[in-house]
Order: sequence, then C-alpha cells, then structure tokens
Amino acid sequence: MGRPLLALPLTATSTVPAEKIRMRCSCIPLPSGLNLGLNTMKASKIFAVSLLSLTLAAGAQEKQKANPSPSDPPIPTRAMGQGLYEQNGANSCLYCHGVTGEQGKVAAAAKLTHPKAWKSYKGLGGDAAFNKNKAEFLSRLETSVVDLILKGAVAHNATYKPDYFNWKATGGPINGQMLGVSGAPSAAWIKKYQARGVTKEIAAKAVYLYLQKFDTEGVFKN
Ligand code: HEC
Repeated sequence: MGRPLLALPLTATSTVPAEKIRMRCSCIPLPSGLNLGLNTMKASKIFAVSLLSLTLAAGAQEKQKANPSPSDPPIPTRAMGQGLYEQNGANSCLYCHGVTGEQGKVAAAAKLTHPKAWKSYKGLGGDAAFNKNKAEFLSRLETSVVDLILKGAVAHNATYKPDYFNWKATGGPINGQMLGVSGAPSAAWIKKYQARGVTKEIAAKAVYLYLQKFDTEGVFKN
C-alpha cells in the first residue's frame, strides 16, 4: 500500500535522491497498521518536498522573467515592474521603499504595504470614495499614482489637477524626495530596455502593477 503512494512523489521530485528514501524505507518490520501510517507520513513529507521544489522552480522562472525578453510584447507586466523596482543603487524604488515595500533607506518614504495612508488615496476621497465606487476609485488611483511615479513628486505636485483630486485632503504636497522612475537606477533601466519598446509610461504602469503585491489592506484585492 505504501509503495504506490511513494512512487508518484519520487518521480516528481529531483531534490531527494531515490537511494536515500529507499534506504530509509527498507524498513524495520512493523505491524501492518503502523507500517501504513509510517509510509503515509513519509509519503506526505516527500510530497511536501516535491511541492516545495515545484514552487521554487516556479519562483525561479518568475525571476528569470523579471526583465523584458526580446519576445515580450512591450506591455506593462508585474514581472517587468519587479525588474525595475528591484534595481540596486541609491534612488531605486527598492532603495527608498525597501524590498518588502517598507523600511527602506528613506524614512519619509510611503509604506507601500499601507496604500490607505498614501496621499493619492486621501486626495481621491479615501475610504468613503473607495466604498462608494471601488472600480472608479481604483482607476483614478492608478491614474494618480502612475502620474506621480512617471514624473516624480515635484512635477506631479505642480501639474496634477484633475477635478476629482482634492489636494486639501492630502495633508500637503507629495514629498519631493519621491522621485519615481526619474531616480538614476530606474532611468538607466528604462534606457536599457528602450530598444525593446519599453517606454517610461510602460515602465511606470508595470511598477504600479508590481507594488500592489505589498498591499496588506486589501485595497487591490479583487
Ligand atoms: C529617493 C527616494 C524615493 C525613490 C527613489 C522613490 N520613492 Fe516613492 N516615495 C518616496 C517618499 C519620501 C514618499 C512619500 C511621499 C509623501 O508622503 O509625501 C514616496 C511615496 C510613494 C508612493 C505613495 C504615493 C502617495 O500617493 O502618497 C508610491 C506608490 C511610491 N512612492 C512608489 C515608488 C516607486 C514605484 C518608485 C520607483 C519607480 C519610487 N517610489 C521611488 C521616496 C522615494
């Protein structure tokens, strides 16, 4: 009974050498009931290992796709956004905001884990507007934040004036340290992929898609 259970995960995993498992399984004779329990336990353990290695493989694939490949159509993707976000060097998104969206090197940087505290969220009417018409709110939030990421705070503060945005509700203009994609590592990254059709606008949208993964408040949850 234990054999078939073991057979499947064994072929599925490459991380556990077959010999090792067989050695452990050339078992001390046990009453059949116990034996079954032991094998089932081992099987589920091995199955968990296979699942883990599958997950790791998927993660590695995701990592590989982080930068646009020549075959990618020039559309904003989360993976592209991750490639941009995780650039090294002073004034990358990661540098100021941190790899997990918070606790980066710039203390004033917004917590990307808490979108409800963003000035853009407040300027668009906060929770009341969010609850009233979520689709419209999210569409406006994208427009606002992508504009900020694209231009950086100084230009965004001076030019972003749609009728639905209330600057009085934000508690002041957006901190000039927020450079968005005009930070040197981001600008260099975009330049590097320009020939593949990646524009500043595509890059800003891609990184906006990526940063939604930091959300702990359910704002971007479907
Ligand atoms: C030099 C540091 C710095 C860099 C580089 C930077 N940011 Fe920021 N960012 C800030 C600061 C500071 C704030 C807080 C602004 C405020 O609350 O007034 C901020 C705010 C934000 C916000 C919240 C906006 C809001 O409405 O309150 C988002 C989203 C954001 N940054 C995303 C990014 C992304 C994506 C990148 C990279 C393309 C990036 N930032 C690069 C410093 C930086």
